[in-house]
Amino acid sequence: MRPADLWRHSSFRLALGVTLLVLTTLILAGGVGYGLMRERLSTRQDARVTEIFTAIAQTSLLNDRVDLIEAITTRIQASPDRSTAYLLTDDNGQLLAGNIRDTALPRGWSTIAAAELDIPTNYLYRVFSGPAGQYRLTVALANSDQQQLQNIVLGAFGWAALVAGLATVAAGAILAARVQSRLSSAEAAVALLAHGDLSARLPVSGRGDDLDRISSAINASLVRLESSVEAMRQVSADIAHDLRTPLNRLRIRIENAATRLADGLPAEDDLMAAIAESDRINETFSALLRIAQIESGARRAQFTTVDLTGLMQIMAEIYADVAADAGHTLYLDVTDPAPVSGDRELLTQTLANLIENTIRHCAPGTRITCAVRGTADLVIASVSDTGPGIPAEEREKVLRRLYRLEQSRSTEGTGLGLALVKAVADLHSADLVLADAEPGLRVALTFRRSVGT
Ligand SMILES: Nc1ncnc2c1ncn2[C@@H]1O[C@H](COP(=O)(O)OP(=O)(O)OP(=O)(O)O)[C@@H](O)[C@H]1O
Ligand SMILES: [Mg+2]
Repeated sequence: MRPADLWRHSSFRLALGVTLLVLTTLILAGGVGYGLMRERLSTRQDARVTEIFTAIAQTSLLNDRVDLIEAITTRIQASPDRSTAYLLTDDNGQLLAGNIRDTALPRGWSTIAAAELDIPTNYLYRVFSGPAGQYRLTVALANSDQQQLQNIVLGAFGWAALVAGLATVAAGAILAARVQSRLSSAEAAVALLAHGDLSARLPVSGRGDDLDRISSAINASLVRLESSVEAMRQVSADIAHDLRTPLNRLRIRIENAATRLADGLPAEDDLMAAIAESDRINETFSALLRIAQIESGARRAQFTTVDLTGLMQIMAEIYADVAADAGHTLYLDVTDPAPVSGDRELLTQTLANLIENTIRHCAPGTRITCAVRGTADLVIASVSDTGPGIPAEEREKVLRRLYRLEQSRSTEGTGLGLALVKAVADLHSADLVLADAEPGLRVALTFRRSVGT
């Protein structure tokens, strides 16, 4: 990875940022500590200078010049590195004893570079110059402790910054390389997806980190997306296939009419049949569009509380006569109100489709039962019959658009009734189950009971 690429990685920049923050904190804390220590050392140095000065000055009180010079000479010998230096002059500025240059030193406290005092070091000296009896005494003390402390602190910070800097660059680079390798595979997967390959999945390392969690969540959505796109592809293929038959019939009717008209024969019957056929095709399209609209979920915004018991009662009343006319008996099996949150119109249409199916697909003499049962949380609405039923392997397929059992091909209908029931069930998050009623079919919809009722 090139340095420029490295800089583009957020993980690398984050590592740098954290190091900068840590270093800044370190420098601030160290700076304050260093300042306090320096001040302390300074005070101690001044106290030491005062102490030496006073000790020598006391000798001068005895007014013994020889003793004074000897005291200074002894001290000079005791400090051969001249970390403590002295100067004694008389009133006329005449040098009496000392190991520093006799310059015009200011009276009182001053800080003077070693070179100015003719001492061959780089230290600064803390200097006090004042009267010692009738003489003038100067005591200079090197600030070697402070200087050493400064060197140690600066050295420590220098090393810390160097080590932290190197560690950051290394850690950032390793991190960035690792993230990059995972992102590269993710990018490759996204490129495949962009080219329409919905089977591509983002890599999951198995470490369970944040990238893994996001990848897993995206992969789960991709699985759902892939299956719904596959389902849509299947639906489009089924619809295209199933609509060819009525369109062919329409074409044959029109061809017949054209032939008859060419032969000078009346073509009214064929034309009327063609109109009826195109009406059916229209109805099929309307029903398909309606299912698509239900599937879009837009109608969920219009949900109200619907009592399924009351609704089933109304539907049973409406269809009782129709069922009787077809030779069936329709029973109503409901007890308490069963409120659910839903779209009243769609739920009405659903129950109607189920009852119409029993009337249409069962031989006369069938017993039809419209039931609603409730538990603490659930409401189950079912329509059962004692007719031929649907074989287990066909129960999933009859929910598809335009799918009809072989034996029903001759009956009226488009094969969209149960597809609509399925769409409405999904819209209401209800469970739709087709089961064997032994004999016959039982279609049950399980809803969640409306909250607060
Ligand atoms: N109660 C039933 N008993 C037996 N077979 C049934 C029953 N209900 C549905 N079927 C079968 O399932 C198929 C699909 O039913 P669906 O309601 O989707 O379509 P349809 O009734 O044929 O037409 P329509 O679109 O007018 O409802 C039917 O064609 C029929 O073969
Ligand atoms: Mg039907």
